[in-house]
Amino acid sequence: MPIVHQESPTHSAHPAQDARAHFDNIANSTQADWETITRESHLYERAVGTRVLAHLKLLAGEYGGFPVDRLEHSLQCATLAHRDGRDVEYVVCALLHDIGDTLASFNHFDIAAAILQPFVSSENLWMVRQHGIFQGYYFFHQLGLDRNLRERFRDQPALFERTAEFCFKYDAPAFKPGFDTLPLAFFAPIVNEVFSQKPRSIYTAPG
Ligand SMILES: [Fe+2]
Ligand SMILES: [Fe+2]
Repeated sequence: MPIVHQESPTHSAHPAQDARAHFDNIANSTQADWETITRESHLYERAVGTRVLAHLKLLAGEYGGFPVDRLEHSLQCATLAHRDGRDVEYVVCALLHDIGDTLASFNHFDIAAAILQPFVSSENLWMVRQHGIFQGYYFFHQLGLDRNLRERFRDQPALFERTAEFCFKYDAPAFKPGFDTLPLAFFAPIVNEVFSQKPRSIYTAPG
């Protein structure tokens, strides 16, 4: 179901919470229906950052054999990036890079990339999407896999170095029990900031 992003001129501080369109087949929808949907979707999408944070919390308590649980790993990764002076968007990418672990055990990086795609730069998006292969440099050989799988991206040196650096500095070392990790509440404002930007989407009107 599409979420329509447009600045609604009819939006008020206290709009009706239960306004609904009146079609039973979207092929018969009217402009009035879409004015209703646009207004209501605007309310829903404004809270996407809150829902992302709620989903990230599902990683708490899930260790999967790792030294720290998946939420702690995510927070440590973001903490390391923040303390290294990375900008807001980069830190949010670090925080959310493994959010797909809950639903996509075999391609978790694609979930994070899909969530972030409308809101982040192409460089950060590429980094998030490919971090699984680059992180593999540190352990694939222990599983009988090719740790050098990342070499396929050598012809894109800037993206290669950016993603290799992300894994080396922030993703790989973010497994320390007892680390001085910043709490999720610290990052909540910047998550909401990133997800409050106008998205790049087929549902976004140009201009
Ligand atoms: Fe990952
Ligand atoms: Fe990770």
